[in-house]
Amino acid sequence: MKKGLFIVFEGGEGSGKSTMIDMIYNWLLEEGRDCIKTREPGGIEISEKIREVILDTKNTSMDGRTEALLYAAARRQHLVEKVIPALDLGKIVLCDRFLDSSLAYQGYARGLGIDEVYKINKFAIGDYMPNISILFDIEPELGLERINKNSNREVNRLDLEKLDFHYKVREGYEIVYNQNKDRMVKIDASLPIEQVFENVKSVINGLIN
Ligand code: TMP
Repeated sequence: MKKGLFIVFEGGEGSGKSTMIDMIYNWLLEEGRDCIKTREPGGIEISEKIREVILDTKNTSMDGRTEALLYAAARRQHLVEKVIPALDLGKIVLCDRFLDSSLAYQGYARGLGIDEVYKINKFAIGDYMPNISILFDIEPELGLERINKNSNREVNRLDLEKLDFHYKVREGYEIVYNQNKDRMVKIDASLPIEQVFENVKSVINGLIN
């Protein structure tokens, strides 16, 4: 069976990872690669519906574990319906967020415990893991400033968290990164966009060539 490449983009709010996915996607197409881009939570109908529930700014009473389970449920459906079939066809799958988001946001920042959140996600994803998880690291204040400048971007329930929460997310990612350097790469997302692009390209070139 052909095997594709599963590449995940991770990071806090305003880290520029979504813009970077578009740039990398276009670059890979120009290179003649068979490639798709997708996102979590979402990417397919059922998971986009779950996304609406999770991120609805009205759902202020949502319990942390409920939130973690919904992310894991959306992840499972997206994985089986979209990611695995594409990988089986030998495609490169670029995915905006995956497991490490849950570890950093729910496991660490929400305080549910990285190991606990890993366990429910293990149930959701089985043995499927990305070939690489690229972490876009940025000072939360800078990231949030970028978001506020971009009036087209949707504001979601997690954006409304206090600055302190976003610092915890960054700390959470740092912990997850330090524990998983074999499958993660950290990129300085505060650099000029062209430089970030070059750095991400060189990571991906290392995988495809
Ligand atoms: P986005 O803004 O990158 O589309 O992500 C939506 C929000 O969901 C963002 O605030 C990060 C959050 N999130 C989690 O808290 N846990 C997860 O597992 C995922 C995938 C996203």
